[in-house]
Amino acid sequence: MTEPSELFGVYGAPPRDVAETAAGAIQYSPLTPGAARLEDVADGGLAGLTVLAPPGTVERRYVIAQGLRALAPGAMLAVAALKDKGGSRLRKELEAFGCTVGEDSRRHHRICLARRPQTVTGLDAAIADGAPRLDEGLGLWTQPGVFSWDRIDPGSALLVKHLIKLGGDGADLGAGLGFLSKAVLAVPKVKSLVLVDNDRRAVEAAGRNIDDPRARVLWADVRQTGIEPGSLDFVVMNPPFHDGGAEDKQLGQTFIRQAAGMLRRGGVLWLVANRHLPYESVLGELFRTTPSRADTGGFKVFEARK
Ligand SMILES: C[S@@+](CC[C@H](N)C(=O)[O-])C[C@H]1O[C@@H](n2cnc3c(N)ncnc32)[C@H](O)[C@@H]1O
Repeated sequence: MTEPSELFGVYGAPPRDVAETAAGAIQYSPLTPGAARLEDVADGGLAGLTVLAPPGTVERRYVIAQGLRALAPGAMLAVAALKDKGGSRLRKELEAFGCTVGEDSRRHHRICLARRPQTVTGLDAAIADGAPRLDEGLGLWTQPGVFSWDRIDPGSALLVKHLIKLGGDGADLGAGLGFLSKAVLAVPKVKSLVLVDNDRRAVEAAGRNIDDPRARVLWADVRQTGIEPGSLDFVVMNPPFHDGGAEDKQLGQTFIRQAAGMLRRGGVLWLVANRHLPYESVLGELFRTTPSRADTGGFKVFEARK
C-alpha cells in the first residue's frame, strides 16, 4: 500500500484572507523564479493545493487540470480568481472536470473548493490545450499564458526595425519567447547576450527558440539577475507594464533603472514602450542622451546612452 502524500502546494500568491495556503506549501507558479514545476508532480502526489488562477482561459484550465492530475483522490483543491479575471467562470470550469464545487466570494474574488473526484473528465484535453508547442506561423516555441504567446507584439516588431550598431555584451530584459533576442543575435558583432525573464514557461521556450552559443537564458526577476553592474555594452527591452494583471508603470521604470545599472559608461539602452507610459523622466535622470528613434502606431522607441 502506498503512504498518503503529505505534500501541499500553492500556485501564485492568493491573498491570505481570500484562500488559505497550508504551512510549508510548495510554490508551483512559473512566475516565481526557482519554484517547483506542477508538471513534475507524480499523479496523485499532492495532499492539497491552493491556486490563484491566471486570467487566460486556456492557461487557467491547464493549471486546474495539472492540479487535479497531481492531487490524490479526495484531496482538497481551492481555486480563487478575481471575479472579472476568470472568477465568475471557475465553478463551471471545475464542474466540467467532474468536481462537486462549493463556492464563496471575498474581496472581489470567487473562491471554489472541491475534493479531487476519483474520476476526472477532460484532463488530457485541457493539458494538451495549454501545453508548450511550436507555432509554425510564428516560427517559435510558445505556451498559452506567456506574454503575446500567439502573435508578435507590434512594439517589439517596431523596435527590431530600428535597432542599429549593436555589439559586445548585452542583455534582453523581459526576453519572453526570445523574439528581440533573435534579432540581436543576427548581428555578428554581438559577443554575448543574457535573456532574462521571470516566467519559467517563457524561459523554457526561449531556450528552445535560440540555439546560439553566445546566448544564456536566465529565469530571474529583473531586480535579481546577478549581472555585474557596469558590465554591459547594450540592453534591449520591451518592458512589462502589468504586474498581476493590473497596470504598473513603476515596473517599467524599474526595468530602466536595472538596465542603467548594468550598462557601462557609453553603453546603450534600446527601449520600446506604449506611447502613454511615462518613461522620459527616468531615462533623462539616468542617461546622458535619450533620443526618440520612432513614434508610430501607439509605440515609441528610445536609444538611451549612458
Ligand atoms: C512586454 S513583454 C516583452 C517580451 C519579449 N521581449 C517580446 O518582445 O515579445 C515583457 C516580459 O517581461 C517579463 N517580466 C515581467 N515582470 C518581470 C520581472 N519582474 N522580471 C523579469 N521579467 C519580467 C514578462 O514575463 C514578459 O515576458
